Amino acid sequence: MKAIEIKNAYFSYDRDPILRDLNLTVKNKEKITIIGGNGVGKTTLIKIIVGELKLDSGSIKIFEEDFNKNILKKIGYVPQSQKENLYTFPITVKELVTLQLYDSLGKFKIPRKEHYHKTMVLLKEMNLEKYADYPIRELSGGLRQRVVITRALVNEPDILIFDEPTSGVDESSKAQFAKTIEELNEKFEVSIILITHELDWVMNNLKMDSIYELKKGGLVNVSI
Ligand SMILES: Nc1ncnc2c1ncn2[C@@H]1O[C@H](COP(=O)(O)OP(=O)(O)OP(=O)(O)O)[C@@H](O)[C@H]1O
Ligand SMILES: [Mg+2]
Repeated sequence: MKAIEIKNAYFSYDRDPILRDLNLTVKNKEKITIIGGNGVGKTTLIKIIVGELKLDSGSIKIFEEDFNKNILKKIGYVPQSQKENLYTFPITVKELVTLQLYDSLGKFKIPRKEHYHKTMVLLKEMNLEKYADYPIRELSGGLRQRVVITRALVNEPDILIFDEPTSGVDESSKAQFAKTIEELNEKFEVSIILITHELDWVMNNLKMDSIYELKKGGLVNVSI
């Protein structure tokens, strides 16, 4: 089963094309990394996969279906750099993760016992149980990152996407994060797409199925 299949994709914001005849196939449970210089279009590609942007031409299929709202639930997305905006108000770990269940919270968006229960089960699996009632803003960077991952997992996605997850994270948290990626892939059987600048870190800490470089609008295989 193909988790993602992009064919002959073209995209531009205005005149300059960002993606030019890009092709990508990610199979179920595969782990891939995409590297590339600043501004080449990595985040743009991810936004296309999660339906925030539409291709000018070409096709994208998620689990062999065209884009639709239900498919979006199959994707857990940890966007690039959210340290500044996210945690200025006093929300707890448990609340932040539970809010991600938004669609199933009903008309008034009030979490019920069963939603908190689901969150707590997952927090336990992620070794975050004891932080459930901590305000997010009081956690260290490494713990915060685990919370953001937990939030991406709560809707039981089949694909997990991380955009530059190690920026601003210290070396030991980076090593821990690599372990977490491998565990998530095993335990939840998710496909993983990892966008990063840190090729050495990937090479030394992760077992990727493929590594690609986004260059001149297309993906080129990086030998591993
Ligand atoms: N909303 C937008 N409107 C116009 N141009 C944009 C928009 N978003 C991004 N761009 C431009 O498109 C190009 C690709 O941006 P993108 O954010 O996808 O790059 P990136 O590879 O993720 O870069 P980085 O490594 O810095 O995260 C850049 O030149 C950027 O300035
Ligand atoms: Mg980016």
